[in-house]
Amino acid sequence: MAAAVTSSRPYHIIIFGATGFTGQFVVEEVARCAAESPDGSRLKWAVAGRSRQRLGEVLTKASERLSMPELRTDIEIIVADVSIEESLAIMCQQGLVILNCVGPYRFFGEPVVKACVENGAHYLDICGEPQFLERMQLEYHTKALDKGVYVIGSCGFDSIPADLGILYTQRQFKGTLTAVEGFLNITSGPAGSSGHDATWQSAVHGFADSGSLRQLRKKFGQKPLPVVGAKVKKRGFVFFSKEMEQYAIPFMGSDPSVVRRTQRHLYEEDHQSPVQYTAYVGIGGPFSVIKLFCGGLLFWFMVKFSLGRKLLTTFPSFFSFGLFTKSGPTTKQIEDTCFSLTFFGEGYSEGTDPAQGRPNTKICTQVIGAEPGYVATVSAIVQAALTLLNELHSLPRRGGVYTPRAAFHKTSLIERLQNHSIKFSVKSYN
Ligand SMILES: NC(=O)c1ccc[n+]([C@@H]2O[C@H](COP(=O)([O-])OP(=O)(O)OC[C@H]3O[C@@H](n4cnc5c(N)ncnc54)[C@H](OP(=O)(O)O)[C@@H]3O)[C@@H](O)[C@H]2O)c1
Repeated sequence: MAAAVTSSRPYHIIIFGATGFTGQFVVEEVARCAAESPDGSRLKWAVAGRSRQRLGEVLTKASERLSMPELRTDIEIIVADVSIEESLAIMCQQGLVILNCVGPYRFFGEPVVKACVENGAHYLDICGEPQFLERMQLEYHTKALDKGVYVIGSCGFDSIPADLGILYTQRQFKGTLTAVEGFLNITSGPAGSSGHDATWQSAVHGFADSGSLRQLRKKFGQKPLPVVGAKVKKRGFVFFSKEMEQYAIPFMGSDPSVVRRTQRHLYEEDHQSPVQYTAYVGIGGPFSVIKLFCGGLLFWFMVKFSLGRKLLTTFPSFFSFGLFTKSGPTTKQIEDTCFSLTFFGEGYSEGTDPAQGRPNTKICTQVIGAEPGYVATVSAIVQAALTLLNELHSLPRRGGVYTPRAAFHKTSLIERLQNHSIKFSVKSYN
């Protein structure tokens, strides 16, 4: 590890929320990466959460699954609770990087960001909640910059494939890339795919509170980004995508918000030409459209009322048609699921002025990976943490709150991900 630990700050990485559904996968991935690191610069890590006993059980389970008995004896446990400020401060004083897996972030995230900034630990999370991500930027960017701390949210499936996928597309494009449409496709085996309850809860509360996101954005007081090149027309709410050969709808996750923040950062800090981004997700055939329409209407109606939210969060499986469950996906579902995110970009060839005429060059790229929620996500956050530890000098300024691309665009994160279950490639344009 290029970043050195000390006796008073003995861990490169602390996994906070290690007992969670996702946290347990992060523990295993960090253990694997630590075992691969050379002896002289061994990755030192610890787990943290509110129950010492449950954390011990997680280490025992990981030690059995990975055949690494040393995990039970060598890995330290730090007890920390979001509601006890002092416990967070003590945790943050011991680590160079905190991987925060405690969500929903709108309820539990801010005290962890605050403790990291105040106690000099870099902060990474796998949040997919635009309200939280944007509010942290508004409230902590200057403080984090002053303290020399990096706060980098959305380092999971939300939104590393999209944010770095556009960086990859731009690198491959010869000229000025001005617009990209992203199409997400998730495929699963006969057992289907599903997500864990915490993500469903984040979505329910996020949609319920979408009005506050508009208010929050006004507080930034930003002018709209200039549109470079031809303005991209948004597709309809449901349309048949010939690119995906199935019906598609606009993608409602955090990717568009994260990419937009990245584009603003690159425009304002590095004077780069902004790329327009629109994101869609494939939903399948006509039957899926009808199911989604009925389910969506019910969801929109129910999130507006506290009783509706109570029902939605109490019965996730029923109201999400089995897409989210309290027990999370099974091992078989995880093994048989994968994603592809295909980007169709357009722009102007070298020497052509984007202010004149129509785009004259196209590109198609793809990011593919293993199961998005718990395999790709875990790979992404762990590689992001290792990149931060090894290439700190390549991150912007000396600290601050950033999107993944804004933080890592001058590092080797894409190359690291290529070796760890997220692959970037150029495709032929049909
Ligand atoms: N970006 C992505 O693609 C992606 C993918 C997966 C998950 N996520 C997000 O990651 C978050 C976690 O998801 P999950 O499914 O792993 O959730 P989970 O299984 O419910 O785990 C939540 C974790 O938070 C801990 N926790 C709760 N309250 C706490 C407190 N007061 N103090 C300390 N720790 C506390 C829990 O500890 P206990 O064991 O003590 O209860 C547990 O470790 C969610 O926000 C989810 O949306 C994002």
